Amino acid sequence: MGRELNDVLKAYLKERLSKKRFTHSMNVADMARELAPIYGADPERAYFAGMTHDIAKELPKDKQLALAKKCTLGVSRIELASPPLLHAPAGAQLLKESFGVEDEDILLAIRYHTVAAADMSPLAQAVYLADLTSADRDYKDVKKMRRYAHISAEKGMFEALRFSVEDLTEKGSTIPLCTIEAYNEYAEYFRDNKKN
Ligand SMILES: [Fe+2]
Ligand SMILES: [Fe+2]
Repeated sequence: MGRELNDVLKAYLKERLSKKRFTHSMNVADMARELAPIYGADPERAYFAGMTHDIAKELPKDKQLALAKKCTLGVSRIELASPPLLHAPAGAQLLKESFGVEDEDILLAIRYHTVAAADMSPLAQAVYLADLTSADRDYKDVKKMRRYAHISAEKGMFEALRFSVEDLTEKGSTIPLCTIEAYNEYAEYFRDNKKN
């Protein structure tokens, strides 16, 4: 990413996001840059996508919904009906229309950072896992997740999706199809490679 666009977005985020979310965003940027070479992604583009992944999260919900509906990368009915999921497609759309970001890999990484999908690029995997393992994250198994994320994209994604699907069914929540497709991809990968 160009230095200039990076600086413009960093200033925008610093001004618009709460202190806590700005810190989280910068931590995700750092972790995405750290994971990128392990997965075969470009570290600087991973940094940019990590930094901007929650750009739409603090917008009013109606604005998030409007942006998500316009998202040219597609958005499912299940996502549109789940307010916490809107900021991902909304963020991709905002970066495209307000900042002229055209890099499809970056836009897809942001669009799928909450729900995941089958066939994610190394960059999208780095952002997804950086969001779960950034320095500010503090949940019971975060150290374990950090270890998995540093082994390989497949190991990190599989363990993250196992946890996510289990948590969603536990709560009786809806699950976007793309999340199930992502889970199946890694479940098959480990079944066929006879390792875990
Ligand atoms: Fe997010
Ligand atoms: Fe996040």
